[in-house]
Amino acid sequence: MATQAEAVPETPFQKLGGHPTFEAICNRFYDLMDGDPAYAKLRAMHADDLAPMRKSLPLFLAGWAGGPRDWFDQNPGRCMMSVHKPFTINAAVARQWADAMKQAIAAVETPDNLLATAMGDALSELALGMGRN
Ligand code: HEM
Repeated sequence: MATQAEAVPETPFQKLGGHPTFEAICNRFYDLMDGDPAYAKLRAMHADDLAPMRKSLPLFLAGWAGGPRDWFDQNPGRCMMSVHKPFTINAAVARQWADAMKQAIAAVETPDNLLATAMGDALSELALGMGRN
């Protein structure tokens, strides 16, 4: 009996449009953080130069969304816990991260905006869970 080639399921990374989408979202996120006073506390926690994070966060999120794992390969043993260990993240600043990310995602056109919104909700929950008080 002839076998049918098994369909490889598309990852969220692919469905959302791949690297260009993740780069656009993260650039928007850091533009907001840099320019909107609502995110001043979050901005103050970051280095003066956001260029490294503009490269790094989209690569992290690409791997997190099932895409290429470059960030994880380049940062062996690093995880969300170790990356954020030097910082005290309170509820207010976690809310700023969550709001800025949702706002950035809403501003970027993707091939699947419903999935993009769901990703924003998941990232928001993740961020809010990191706020300690
Ligand atoms: C909850 C609120 C959060 C705060 C206040 C926060 C803050 C920070 C800060 C201050 C840095 C260092 C930035 C710098 O060196 O300029 C950082 C790094 C990082 N954050 Fe967050 N973060 C939050 C949530 C998240 C979430 C939800 C994710 C991903 C899902 C994330 C992913 C990363 C990554 C991947 C890095 C390190 C990148 C690298 O060094 O390659 N963060 N974060």
